[in-house]
Amino acid sequence: IPVDPFDFIIFGGTGDLSERKLLPALYHRQRDHQFSEPTRIIGASRTKMDDKEFRAFAKKAISDHVKPEYIEEAELKTFLDRLSYVTVDAKSGDGFAELKKSVGDSKRIRVFYLAVAPSLFGDISDHLKAHKLVTADSRIVVEKPIGRDLESAKALNDIIGDDFGEHQIFRIDHYLGKETVQNLMALRFANALYEPLWNSAHIDHVQITVAETVGLEDRVTYYDKAGALRDMVQNHILQLLCLVAMEAPASMDANAVRDEKLKVLNALKRVNGNEAPKQTVRGQYRAGASAGGPVKGYIEELGADSTTETFVAIKAEIANWRWAGVPFYLRTGKRLASRVSEIVIEFKPIPHSIFGESAGPIFNNQLVIRLQPDEGVKQFIMIKDPGPGGMRLRQIPLDMSFAQSFDGRAPDAYERLIMDVVRGNQTLFMRRDEVEAAWKWIDPIQHAWEGSRQEAQGYTAGTWGPSASIALIERDGRTWHESN
Ligand code: BG6
Repeated sequence: IPVDPFDFIIFGGTGDLSERKLLPALYHRQRDHQFSEPTRIIGASRTKMDDKEFRAFAKKAISDHVKPEYIEEAELKTFLDRLSYVTVDAKSGDGFAELKKSVGDSKRIRVFYLAVAPSLFGDISDHLKAHKLVTADSRIVVEKPIGRDLESAKALNDIIGDDFGEHQIFRIDHYLGKETVQNLMALRFANALYEPLWNSAHIDHVQITVAETVGLEDRVTYYDKAGALRDMVQNHILQLLCLVAMEAPASMDANAVRDEKLKVLNALKRVNGNEAPKQTVRGQYRAGASAGGPVKGYIEELGADSTTETFVAIKAEIANWRWAGVPFYLRTGKRLASRVSEIVIEFKPIPHSIFGESAGPIFNNQLVIRLQPDEGVKQFIMIKDPGPGGMRLRQIPLDMSFAQSFDGRAPDAYERLIMDVVRGNQTLFMRRDEVEAAWKWIDPIQHAWEGSRQEAQGYTAGTWGPSASIALIERDGRTWHESN
């Protein structure tokens, strides 16, 4: 369904996010005829460029990041015709007057997308306000990191909050735009099957894994200051945890969903200095092999000494009626054995077995929600091994693969999220209090690590992280689900 016409202004329009994600996502929306006239996209960056050069930049971004079969000349031309460019300096405010001229007095929806370092959020937001660019129908989109702890997050939220109302602020967490992440809500709340069992009476534990094979990539300065806890756990992993753990919201209304997520964040048991060594593992990759070839260790890649973690495992607990006594094991890392993100819900053992030992072991039922790659849902159940050999039991998955079940292209998370911004739908965006509640839980862990000098343990690139991560879960008599 086409959306109302809008002006989409990308600060950092010539940057990496714009090139890899935003312009390709916008092109796909064009190709699916979601834009009405006269929708415009304006690049804004410090780089000196004219409209023609920005169009050439966008054309290359699309040919590099969109599969050739989706590039249609006519659509591409219409898309490129929508683009223009303004040189702006976020610090000095130079160029904002031109930007104002460029958007004119239109009543169109305005989206200001801040694909820039957070240190520029405040300046940009103030210049927009000062130049009277912020209309009632304006929205601002900010990318993480929203701060590096609770205090800095509050400061950043205050700065943006001075110029924009909360209903205009879209804090993006691209994991919430992923197809299977949203499917988690469908699975839980559009089926009668799971919800009655979705609690501590029936669930033994939950695992959330976001494993990557990439290393530092080109993000040296940012990543080394952040580390895996801030980069992945504070946002993506806690958001996944919220969707698994929250109560059924009254509706899909943005605040109904966000209220429920907030309750989960507030119920997370603090991990303080005493518990951190038992409940958390920090790791840093050493030289090894990944994606079929040798790779350097983190320190060699960085070219400097560093104690930053590239791997985290945490045993988290939610102190409420539904989840008391059900651990949530979280892990994420760079340069791991494979790229896989998944959520595993492991149910409790059956109360009593009627089968003798000869039937073999009875495994707990597991529901595995695979976010990427090979999106799908697998429900592992026990069956009788077919054949005349008597009653032998075997575990098999009931397997729903998205690729096999549905035709067509899987849209990128940014495509959905961008259009939600234009429509003004905040359901898949983080509210201020959510971001701050997440930091409230993260900060004590970070402090415990710093205070006790809990060091990052080395792990060989291409493995599943430090052995302490395996020990973390095995101490409780459980094992990480083997992803393959
Ligand atoms: C980003 C992190 O938010 O998410 C990166 O900053 C990480 O470090 C990325 O690589 C992972 O996203 P995806 O969509 O590739 O799983």
